[in-house]
Amino acid sequence: MNFTYYGHSCFAVELGGRVLLFDPFITPNPLAAGIDLHSVRADFILVSHGHQDHLADAVVLAKRTGAPVIANYEVATWLGKNGAGKTHGLNHGGAFAFDFGRVKLVNAIHSSSLPDGAYGGNPCGFVVESARGNFYYSGDTALTMDMQLIGESTRLAFAALCIGGTFTMDAADAVTAARFVNCGQIVGVHYDTYPPIKIDHGEARKLFQAAGKKLHLLKIGESREF
Ligand code: NI
Ligand code: MN
Repeated sequence: MNFTYYGHSCFAVELGGRVLLFDPFITPNPLAAGIDLHSVRADFILVSHGHQDHLADAVVLAKRTGAPVIANYEVATWLGKNGAGKTHGLNHGGAFAFDFGRVKLVNAIHSSSLPDGAYGGNPCGFVVESARGNFYYSGDTALTMDMQLIGESTRLAFAALCIGGTFTMDAADAVTAARFVNCGQIVGVHYDTYPPIKIDHGEARKLFQAAGKKLHLLKIGESREF
């Protein structure tokens, strides 16, 4: 599985020729100014919740690529009304087998109002299981015991976890999350974009290292194989 980081919580995972793009937020992010939205590929777009910093570019990308948007039912319906052509709504605990693998919506503790104030359902994380390997994306969330259920049921090649604090888990809580989901390869997301979520990279790496886990903090535009 090839992972490409686009800044904040936006990343792509390529699985057997299919590109899954998560939480597209590129054009409003000054740190991602080096990324050309028109060069970003997507066969599926997955959105974890209704906040602007997770879906700002979803409609534009869905229109250009024709990629279906996978999200909770409320976010999927809202994106459909706002111009995304194809949507696939799921809800927590539910899963669907797509051609690239199975996507399950899992719990996240956060909020999820949409940019125009519409109800955004409940925020989620995603567990993706495929012939190429499995991974978990936490979305925006607090540390929660529910993460243990993921570790018990799925062997993960990597997990993308929010680590910026203030609005989500910080690095220390994400170390516990990594233990709960039973995964040693962690990609940090949702950090450094705004002053309240700026982190000390060295400190964060050390926390994971002390727990016998590897924290990957990728440069925006950088890719890595898992
Ligand atoms: Ni959020
Ligand atoms: Mn966020």
